[in-house]
Amino acid sequence: MPDPFEIAFLNGRYAPVNGLSVSVLDRGFLFADAVYEVVPVYDGRVFRSRQHYDRLQRSLDGIRLASPLDRAGWDTLLDNLVERNGGGSMAVYLQITRGPESGRDHRIKPGTTPTVFAMAMPLKDRREARENGVAATTATDIRWARCDIKSTALLANVLLASDAAESGAEESLLLRDGLLQEGASSSVLIVNDDVVRIPPYDESLLPGTTRDLVVALLEHNDIQVVECDISVDALRAADEIWIASATREVLPVTRLDGELVGDGQPGPLWRRVNQAYQRCKKDGGEIR
Ligand code: PDD
Repeated sequence: MPDPFEIAFLNGRYAPVNGLSVSVLDRGFLFADAVYEVVPVYDGRVFRSRQHYDRLQRSLDGIRLASPLDRAGWDTLLDNLVERNGGGSMAVYLQITRGPESGRDHRIKPGTTPTVFAMAMPLKDRREARENGVAATTATDIRWARCDIKSTALLANVLLASDAAESGAEESLLLRDGLLQEGASSSVLIVNDDVVRIPPYDESLLPGTTRDLVVALLEHNDIQVVECDISVDALRAADEIWIASATREVLPVTRLDGELVGDGQPGPLWRRVNQAYQRCKKDGGEIR
């Protein structure tokens, strides 16, 4: 029996992750010419796969790369990977690069064979974060202009996340021209006067599968959601701040740049939406 999360997938083969390697001429390695997804799996069931495949397709279209598999193919790959890793709860990381070439040329040429890689990762225990909330910092968004593409070119996110971690924070909330966009690896939602506010989607932030689910759950529970620009002042005045991602689910931010958010406790709307989220997980992603 392999260790948990040991088995990965590379170009048609399932094998222990440490033994897998790709060419140094792979455009994913040379140019970060690649896109990715992170898909949660609960009790062996892939959570809301359609939403992840839709976004993957948008990312592939955004970098002009044909999908190497159709939806049934992605389903088979993920189901096999989950089964080979014990069929429990995990996150699946899926990366598609434009593949290796004979030399290094910036320009896209037809005829490369994409590299498809997937691995299983453990989901972190978030009980402490749900109990007490997490800290976040704010930072200037130093990323590129097409953050709607889930690209593996993540150096800015790496630096931003590391700065936040160094000051003891879980996440860095990114501001572009004084407006909130998202976190370094999460979507952000804020609450004021029982209304949830979210930044509008455009090319400067990633459409979040978790944010979309949270919004659907809020609307299902008759909680008002408004898409609008969120200034840094509005962020600092929020009653509640939430971060959302496939691996974090929805977490309350209770400290921002060292100041308490609201009364410094996970807020009442977060409690409601978290309950709805946990129910949705049990219901296999259905909204009831
Ligand atoms: N990150 N925004 C950014 C910049 C992200 O990297 C992520 C997710 C999200 C939330 O998307 P979703 O709800 O679909 O996970 C928003 C993943 C988890 C990661 O990079 O590990």
